[in-house]
Amino acid sequence: IPTVLDSIAKVRQTREQQIIQGKIAGLVPTMGAIHQGHLSLIETALKDCDFVYVSIFVNPSQFSPTEDLDRYPRTLEADLEKIQKLNTLDNIFVFVPAVSDIYPNGIPLQVSAQTGAFVQVIGLSEQLEGSTRPHFFRGVATVVSKFFNIVSPNFAYFGQKDIQQCIVIKKLVSDLFFNLQIKIVPTARDPVDGLALSSRNVYLTPKQRKHAPAVYRGLHKANTLFEHKKSASRSELIKCVLNSVEKEGSEHFQFDYICVSDKSSLLELDHVNESGAIISCAWKMGTTRLIDNIVLGAQ
Ligand code: PAJ
Repeated sequence: IPTVLDSIAKVRQTREQQIIQGKIAGLVPTMGAIHQGHLSLIETALKDCDFVYVSIFVNPSQFSPTEDLDRYPRTLEADLEKIQKLNTLDNIFVFVPAVSDIYPNGIPLQVSAQTGAFVQVIGLSEQLEGSTRPHFFRGVATVVSKFFNIVSPNFAYFGQKDIQQCIVIKKLVSDLFFNLQIKIVPTARDPVDGLALSSRNVYLTPKQRKHAPAVYRGLHKANTLFEHKKSASRSELIKCVLNSVEKEGSEHFQFDYICVSDKSSLLELDHVNESGAIISCAWKMGTTRLIDNIVLGAQ
């Protein structure tokens, strides 16, 4: 089992010694229910860094009252075992704080807390995921800032699967002068059907699980179309996704959005040229909400 640090003080002490010795550290923030997507972030971090800190913390401030905070999978023992398989050099630390460590005065803007600081990245947090989850990125930016200040890593690793999160965090780091570099790791997918790995996939019924990869097939088709012409309209790209979903049976998918956006401003594009774009989508299958995206014109 990797070394578990259960307090902010223990993380700071451990990291301070490493900084004195000039050791490089990477941070991989997670909410647990570790799967191969998380593990690929840790593997990437191990290549760059002397030490890797994995945080496991189901962050209450990024869930709205109607979302799945209570039923979010919590599987610490299994998580530690999966992480241990990568811990061959004994250089992974797992930070598992309590909610009261991270939010000692409650969560700002909830009735339980009348005072407190939070971090908000304006202009990138309201669209896409933010349109159905208005407080989501404030919760993410706040908790990630706390972890940056606790761990003082040289690098922090985020998955492309949550592409808006990557863009928000990059802006956070540059605007607030956090002294670290963000690394984006490609989306880990099911090797057979391409479904993006997600902690929420366990909620899918076998039938939903079978239908779900149609979205990625559509995104992939859109990418092929774009690669061919190095140019495409928003409507033909979206049609690729919709056609794929229609073949599978549209009734299985309730889309929140399918968007074609600029890679840094997230503004919607009518037309994509050689500088590329992001096609991102979110949809429900029954009560389970999934997201996926593809970056057009990625090197
Ligand atoms: P969580 O959903 O646990 O994801 C932790 C990290 O793993 C994120 O950077 C996410 O993008 C990445 N990840 C998830 N599935 C992936 C996949 N299939 N391929 C590659 N990377 C994947 O994202 C969060 O937690 C939280 O918002 C957090 C950043 C921890 C703040 O609470």
